[in-house]
Amino acid sequence: MTETTDHGTIESHSLEVESYPPSAAFKEQANLADPAIYWQAAEDPESYWSDQARKLRWSKPFTEALDWSNPPFAKWFADGELNVAENCLDRHVAAGLGDRVAIHFEGEPGDTRTITYGELAHEVKRAANMLTALGVEAGDRVAIYMPMIPETVIAMLAVVRLGAAHSVVFGGFSSESLRARIDDAKAELVITADGGFRKGRVSALKPTVDDALRLDDADGTPSTVQKVLVVQRGGNEIEMQPGRDLWWHEEITAYEGDHTPQGFPAENPLFILYTSGTTGKPKGILHTSGGYLTQVTTTHRDVFDLKPESDVYWCTADVGWITGHSYVVYGPLANGATQVIYEGTPETPDWGRWWSIIQKYGVSIFYTAPTAIRACMKVGRQVPEQYDLSSIRVLGSVGEPINPEAWRWYHEVIGGGRAPIVDTWWQTETGAIMIAPLPGLTALKPGSAQVPQPGISIDVVDDDGNRVDRGQGGLLSVARPWPSMVRGIWGDPERFVETYWSKFGDRYFAGDGARVDEDGDIWLLGRVDDVMNVSGHRLSTAEIESALVEHHAVAEAAVVGADDETTGQAVVAFVILKSQQQLVSEAEAEAELKKHVSGVIGAIARPKQVFVVTELPKTRSGKIMRRLLKEAAEGRDVGDTTTLADTAVMQTISQRVRTER
Ligand code: WT7
Repeated sequence: MTETTDHGTIESHSLEVESYPPSAAFKEQANLADPAIYWQAAEDPESYWSDQARKLRWSKPFTEALDWSNPPFAKWFADGELNVAENCLDRHVAAGLGDRVAIHFEGEPGDTRTITYGELAHEVKRAANMLTALGVEAGDRVAIYMPMIPETVIAMLAVVRLGAAHSVVFGGFSSESLRARIDDAKAELVITADGGFRKGRVSALKPTVDDALRLDDADGTPSTVQKVLVVQRGGNEIEMQPGRDLWWHEEITAYEGDHTPQGFPAENPLFILYTSGTTGKPKGILHTSGGYLTQVTTTHRDVFDLKPESDVYWCTADVGWITGHSYVVYGPLANGATQVIYEGTPETPDWGRWWSIIQKYGVSIFYTAPTAIRACMKVGRQVPEQYDLSSIRVLGSVGEPINPEAWRWYHEVIGGGRAPIVDTWWQTETGAIMIAPLPGLTALKPGSAQVPQPGISIDVVDDDGNRVDRGQGGLLSVARPWPSMVRGIWGDPERFVETYWSKFGDRYFAGDGARVDEDGDIWLLGRVDDVMNVSGHRLSTAEIESALVEHHAVAEAAVVGADDETTGQAVVAFVILKSQQQLVSEAEAEAELKKHVSGVIGAIARPKQVFVVTELPKTRSGKIMRRLLKEAAEGRDVGDTTTLADTAVMQTISQRVRTER
């Protein structure tokens, strides 16, 4: 039987696709087990979201949910005031939950720390007092460049407790990328660590901050940074610049744990997080307080069926990405959940590490990315099979579509065939989960994110913004404003309007292709723009191309995301060298250019392959045909090349790729 609403399928037993309906036992205990939630929320989304928002603590209650009088600049709960850190900490302590574990920290070398809500609140208050003494005030921006350790969470919460905004920069980014983000946000304080543990070694961070602050920006002005606060973690030798650099552990001793949280307007900036777009310059995605916290808290509770008093939750994302912001820091802590934070990589000291952590802490909700699942599949099921994973009751997936083969493996080997998998579609810009099954309600279909969340209106539309029929493909769009939506691109309102709103006018354009099946379920098909998805991380072709042509030996470059078995897509670059450089061996040039891209952007952008070519396929008007390069890079036959200015060029390139593969 198939029962559908306007907002998707509630129970589907489609004949062509496998379907996993919730078990009676799961339904019995589920937070949401009545499908009426969908139509109730759809009838009046603003009142649905207001009800969710009222579950938070407001120092001044709001009287209006949505202000859409100046589209596309939305305001949610605008006349209300709240303190986000108070909602994540003090509120739980006041409710008598101070002894509940907030964080089970597992360092990569094996050191551990257990931090209760009471202790976390205490540390955040001390840190807030320390930051105040360092001059941080409401409205400021603080850059955070840290490993995955408790102080990172403490630093983020201390910043927002003061009404300032953080800009967390992933620890894998280069000094140049870090500097560009510091400059764009005009941060005066950087919080970093000497280093963190990765793959069995200390990976230094502070020296990258030093380099970043030494670099002159484009017009030669020095950075805005006045102070650098350094957490001791790696124990690696670093330089401390007198007058600028301070050790966290030395400074903090001067501060007590008393700090009264002040309420800030719901639209007060909470954080900026940079993400790649279709141009060379990353976009500073701005999120604000009340609406963001409302939607991350709601989705974290409902999509994962969270029971804060008994679950142990673990999201493997780094806080340098939006998943870490929303589903390591704000969602779980606002819900009073107990979670695991692990510093290192899944293969250290061996591929059993994640499963041993699940066994050790009795993790019941586990949230990771398809690329990691595929990497574990490659290693083999005999590794997780050595551990007791029976505590797991819900599994999550994020970052890219999860292929059905990986879905089945995850379900069977990690979830014991019993735990539902929630495939969650969302973006840095959406702030929180937008499309995902509800595990007590949705009959799961491997490979599909399926249903918009209650109170969220998603449509798959054609180029003109008309909804496509069931069974058809098109572009994913959000039809109505949602609480955790991006409020703007930092310092660039025009780019915000242009990127997301110029295509359809009144609908948000997500940049993803999608298909709606006969049941109304949504299947994501990947990006429709020049954005790649490598291991669930977003990379821009333009940004990598511009890094390549910055190299003195490169005349021209084209970058594509080629399908890759493990990472989803892989960066493949085609470069033409300047004529005087032709004497350098190609192997040398390739190695040098891979290193160069790592240096300019960060190791995550390092191309998997670089091909030195003599020509690039171009249309007669001079536009590079990246589609053809992608086909060649994937080893597929390049079809019609008649629109190319030089029809022979693709033959040469295909041959070049084939010899390499
Ligand atoms: C892009 C957003 C949201 C946190 C991680 C990435 C792709 C993300 C899914 C999914 C299919 C997905 C989309 C989206 N994506 N989750 N469950 N199924 N595609 O955040 O770096 O902002 O990237 O990731 O293409 O647009 P991001």
